Amino acid sequence: MRRALVMPFRGQIRGTIMCPRDKSLSHRAAFIGALSRGRTVITGFSFCRDCMSTLSCIQALGVEVHTFPEEGKVVLQSEGHTSFCEPEDVLNAENSGTTIRLMAGIAAGIEGLTILTGDASLRRRPMRRIIEPLRKAGVDIGGRGGDRFPPLFIRGRKRIAPFFHVLEVPSAQVKSALLFAALWGEGPSTIVEPLPSRNHTENMLQYVGVTLRKEDGAIIVEPPQVIRASSFELPGDISSAAFLMSLALCVPEASLIIQDVGLNPTRVGFLQCLERMGGKYSILAKRETFGEPRGDILVTYSELQATSIGPEEIPLLIDEIPILAILAAKAKGKTVISGAQELRVKESDRIRSVACGLRALGVRVEEKEDGLVIYGPCDFQRGVVQSFGDHRIAMSFTIAGLLSTEGVIIEGVDCVDVSYPTFFADLGKLGITTITLEEVL
Ligand code: S3P
Repeated sequence: MRRALVMPFRGQIRGTIMCPRDKSLSHRAAFIGALSRGRTVITGFSFCRDCMSTLSCIQALGVEVHTFPEEGKVVLQSEGHTSFCEPEDVLNAENSGTTIRLMAGIAAGIEGLTILTGDASLRRRPMRRIIEPLRKAGVDIGGRGGDRFPPLFIRGRKRIAPFFHVLEVPSAQVKSALLFAALWGEGPSTIVEPLPSRNHTENMLQYVGVTLRKEDGAIIVEPPQVIRASSFELPGDISSAAFLMSLALCVPEASLIIQDVGLNPTRVGFLQCLERMGGKYSILAKRETFGEPRGDILVTYSELQATSIGPEEIPLLIDEIPILAILAAKAKGKTVISGAQELRVKESDRIRSVACGLRALGVRVEEKEDGLVIYGPCDFQRGVVQSFGDHRIAMSFTIAGLLSTEGVIIEGVDCVDVSYPTFFADLGKLGITTITLEEVL
């Protein structure tokens, strides 16, 4: 296990950088490629740990997977979903909630037994939200702890019963699992979202020829559908870009361009929030691929103000809350984050992890059942922060360390590989030389 000794950064942040390609889109491109018959070329695939778990799952179904990490490319050759074989072994999604949940939707349509598990963190994450709707559709599925947690077993069927399901939480992972499962329905299925969550699966399915009907927050899938083998060129991940942007926002005179970042409206809650906080950014070179806008983000040093983030905005910035909490500590006033109870069941309990970390650095913070109240502006004092094995916590507090007065130690930083393997190298590219990674026995 490694720890990071992060000393204050007093230099300049200037220039242009690429962040990793989008993790959510990479998972979906791999799963959709597997479902289609023929060859799928994915450029700009994210070779992070989570997406590698997805590749190993589809490989276990009989899909040929060729990886070219230097070119950021994956080529899949599949006979399509009707050819999927019963996996010979347990499939391990490691740390990836997206892998296990989307894979469960796909396994619903595989005749035979699929067993899905994950690492210690994933085995604590809620699964009833996918088990219940799939069971209603006639799938024999269950999980540990009275259907609460992985491992999951799934005995799928060639055709499942059509279903009507209202999501209890606005979760794109659950929605996507059900969209995949609905493809093997004996008739039309309907999925209703209480609030909009990221819509990449819908966009990509439509791009490969699947017809989806959308009516007042409901998505209707009418099988059978033919999935066309396609190619995807994926943009950068705004959830990773958010760390670099936050650093630039807080370093005097900074001006940084992050190239080719995905700007899907269901993912840009972070940018909307920055606008309210007085964060200065602009979008350059905007274009669109498979229904997803993308562009360069130019961000400059800004004096930040506190803001409020409420329940309806949470799904649009769910993964950016830890880094927003760091910005809130630097912003003037009281920032209130509410309706964010989903954070308690992420890779760590992120409400608790963020509150512990901020407190360790001397920030005044109140932990609520469904959010946080953070009082700024303040200096990050010298302290030791635990990552709780959570990539976004490790990266958020690395940024806090760079902005601190005397330096911060972050315990457990190997987890950054889960979404952003080149995180420390990219900070190096920006001229940051104040981070030392140390092996801990
Ligand atoms: C994701 C959806 C979100 C997000 C996760 C990735 C996805 O989870 O937190 O990191 O790719 O669909 P939920 O859908 O469970 O909120």
